Amino acid sequence: MENFTYHNPTKLIFGKGQLDALPKEVQAHGKKVLMVYGGGSIKRNGIYDNVLKKLAEIDAEVFELPGVEPNPRISTVRKGVEICKSEGIDFILAVGGGSTIDCTKAIAVGAKTDVDMWDVVTKKEKATDALPFGTVLTLAATGSEMNAGSVITNWEINEKHGWGAAPYTFPQFSILDPEHTMTVPRDQTIYGMVDMMSHVLEHYFHQTTNTPIQDRFCEGILNTVIETAPKLLDNLESYEHRETVMLAGTLALNNMLNMGYAGDWATHNLEHAVSAVHDIPHGGGLAILFPHWMRHVLDEQNVARFKQLAVRVFDVDPSGKSDKEVALEGIDKLSEFWMSIGAPSRLADYDIDESTVEVMAEKTVTARPEFGRFKKLTKQDSIEIYKASL
Ligand code: NZQ
Ligand code: ZN
Repeated sequence: MENFTYHNPTKLIFGKGQLDALPKEVQAHGKKVLMVYGGGSIKRNGIYDNVLKKLAEIDAEVFELPGVEPNPRISTVRKGVEICKSEGIDFILAVGGGSTIDCTKAIAVGAKTDVDMWDVVTKKEKATDALPFGTVLTLAATGSEMNAGSVITNWEINEKHGWGAAPYTFPQFSILDPEHTMTVPRDQTIYGMVDMMSHVLEHYFHQTTNTPIQDRFCEGILNTVIETAPKLLDNLESYEHRETVMLAGTLALNNMLNMGYAGDWATHNLEHAVSAVHDIPHGGGLAILFPHWMRHVLDEQNVARFKQLAVRVFDVDPSGKSDKEVALEGIDKLSEFWMSIGAPSRLADYDIDESTVEVMAEKTVTARPEFGRFKKLTKQDSIEIYKASL
């Protein structure tokens, strides 16, 4: 392990009926609240009304920013910043999935600076402050509810960048009631599970030695999601399975799993470039790309990690097989599992063909000519992985 300091300031409020905690949590920060949400799911399932009732208990003055897009856009961030500044907002409440939360993080920082938020997202400018914000999570996937990361798209120039500004972009609190995820449709439920598994896998592929506890944590979460996914998809209204998956999503990316080391994250870079150009769901892109990243980077030096994953998570029997054979069987099993739950497996599933491979590959190296920590990749690697994924 490397030396590390772990500090996660987000208060996690988990379980049935926990929306009751909202008034007290918000009250600590002021009365003028900007409620940020997506395209209307919270109005259809009643969460919107319930949140407003809770905010009325403390006589909050509520302003609204609806319409945050999946793959949230900088144009929407700018609208939110404008409301915060013109109305003197004290606190922002994100009610939704990762997109709504990521957009809220950018609004919170933007409200406290005069620089354009795209310059902060692209790291030309540094965040130095933010409005406090909290979240009511409605979709288990990204982990944004308990981390400081955010991913914002600039649709005018087809760029999508991850950024973060700890401690400012950690939510003050996040309310996770599994009941709030009951109405998540089948496809988004699948994408969410692929995303959280991908986060664990991004952690898992690292070069640091002696991480036995972290490995077992990662394997435990993967095993649990693999076990739960088919049961949840059989019964999307199972509280028990929604609960399991919701906790898995948070733990997969609240930096608890990567204590003492940094994971790879190349596949996320590859996926963000795909959705920057084609606006596809993040989890869908990951399901296609991850197995191909694995096959591309697997070599004699790093085969042990792939083998460990294959044996411990995918129950591959190693007897009589070479390490590489075991590793490849594990990758095939991951791919088969994602296909078995209905995730896409080829870029063609989103009508993506060879014509945009070059432009996507260029975007993977826009900020850095090399990326990936487990194995450094270049633009040429991106081209090869995309071509294999077509
Ligand atoms: O917009 P509404 O109408 O609310 O509908 C949403 C949206 O269409 C719907 N939904 C959410 N909760 C629902 C629901 N529908 C019915 N019932 C509910 N309870 O689901 C759709 C997708 O929502 P979205 O927030 O876009 O999904 P997700 O949570 O997967 O977030 C994806 C975004 O997060 C970024 C991705 O790149 C993408 O932009 N990521 C953020 C990360 C982070 N901040 O740490 C890490 C991730 O790796 C990821 O990159
Ligand atoms: Zn992700």
